[in-house]
Amino acid sequence: MRKNIVAGNWKMNTTVAEGVELAREVNAAVEKASELKCEVIVGVPFTHLTAVSQVLTAVKLSAENCADHTSGAYTGEVSAPMVASTGAQYVILGHSERREYYHETNAMLKTKVDLALEAGLKVIFCCGESLAQRKDGTYFDVIKAELVESLFHLSAEQMSNIVIAYEPIWAIGTGETATSDQAEEIHAFIRQLIADKYGKQVADDTTILYGGSCKPSNAPELFAKPDIDGGLIGGASLKADSFMGIVTAF
Ligand code: 13P
Repeated sequence: MRKNIVAGNWKMNTTVAEGVELAREVNAAVEKASELKCEVIVGVPFTHLTAVSQVLTAVKLSAENCADHTSGAYTGEVSAPMVASTGAQYVILGHSERREYYHETNAMLKTKVDLALEAGLKVIFCCGESLAQRKDGTYFDVIKAELVESLFHLSAEQMSNIVIAYEPIWAIGTGETATSDQAEEIHAFIRQLIADKYGKQVADDTTILYGGSCKPSNAPELFAKPDIDGGLIGGASLKADSFMGIVTAF
């Protein structure tokens, strides 16, 4: 059966020293908490991975991106094997900020997914629609294309190393959360797409996270939905107490 996950995505925030301190606080709180009903992950900038890895005992570590090549003359890029060599277990791929500001396409993300899995990383794969796509009703097609074109070449066995994060772009950093019913509708749709392609067992075993202005006050209602298995948290992951307020929401 699938596991619940709450993952932080720090984005481009904190110095290394600040990040190590935040990771220490989160790790201590997770260690102290008894009977947590979810796995906890922190997604941190590349520069922080090695140092943060050394202070985590009860929390898993993720990068926020990796390159679409393994090694070579790609100045400024960081490859999946490099990420894995820091001790990270996960990488976030396909975040809408990467798609929008750095022009990442479904085809490029397919390559990144393959390289990440090859390097032994698990992938937190983000999908989601813009406000315009929500309004013009094309959002089901947009989300389907993101999944089909970047993930559905994988084997059922490889899918066990994929976590999906549904992040409506209009809800990211805006304070406007999708209602729990809106989120559940998409999560159920995603699970059905997986079931159609891989069968019910794989679909039931796939963790699907919600992201977009998730906070301690709205997490319990979101996480109570049958197809919402946790959250990918931006702003509220930058303070240990608000992040833990979401971690303990199950
Ligand atoms: P916020 O929680 O700040 O809205 O960000 C969500 C997100 O983009 C997580 O990846």
